[in-house]
Amino acid sequence: MRRLLAAALPLLLLAGCPAWDPMQRQAKYKAYQVSEYYADGMAMRAPPAGTVPYGAVLDGPVQTGQGPDGRPLAISPVAPTPGLLATGKKHFEITCAVCHGVLGDGESQVALNMSLRKPANLQLYRDVPDGYLFQVMSLGFGLMPAYAAELTPEERWAVVAYVRALQLSQHAVVDELPARVRAGLPGEGR
Ligand code: HEC
Repeated sequence: MRRLLAAALPLLLLAGCPAWDPMQRQAKYKAYQVSEYYADGMAMRAPPAGTVPYGAVLDGPVQTGQGPDGRPLAISPVAPTPGLLATGKKHFEITCAVCHGVLGDGESQVALNMSLRKPANLQLYRDVPDGYLFQVMSLGFGLMPAYAAELTPEERWAVVAYVRALQLSQHAVVDELPARVRAGLPGEGR
């Protein structure tokens, strides 16, 4: 066994060595290097004419969450549909719930262990504009990092819709519920 180890060790060391690693050795250009291949002598290429950055096809408010007046949009520009809510639930539970809790009420294992500032209780953010929730996710807020890299603008709007659904789930006014739903409540419709 010891002999086997002695034989394998140099190989293991070699595998981690940049000079041996085929990925490291393969022919490639690094940023700003000179190239003999391209006529302009530069390895770095400009994007083909007409290329647009990813996401640029979305109009401004959908991307930024704010209107032409620079204020957060009061109402989401993306219509809530059952599909959007399902997407929002999925991404909220993957991305936000770990800190803000599955109900968004700030009750989570992570929150218990956070000593500086706790994740906000999103149930208390019922009166902020939809665009504000979108912007907090896009840009981050205080100790909370931005989630623009994890969630596309569409996914962030879906999370906004789901946060609204969570808020409604904890603050529904019985009188405003559809008759069909009220009829199923204990003490109602009988
Ligand atoms: C790593 C933990 C963590 C995750 C994940 C996280 N947040 Fe937060 N969030 C925080 C903390 C901490 C604060 C309070 C920050 C502060 O006060 O400095 C906060 C604050 C907020 C606020 C309140 C902003 C204000 O004006 O007070 C909103 C809204 C919010 N988060 C939404 C979200 C949403 C939506 C997601 C999922 C996309 C998310 N957060 C993911 C930790 C997190």
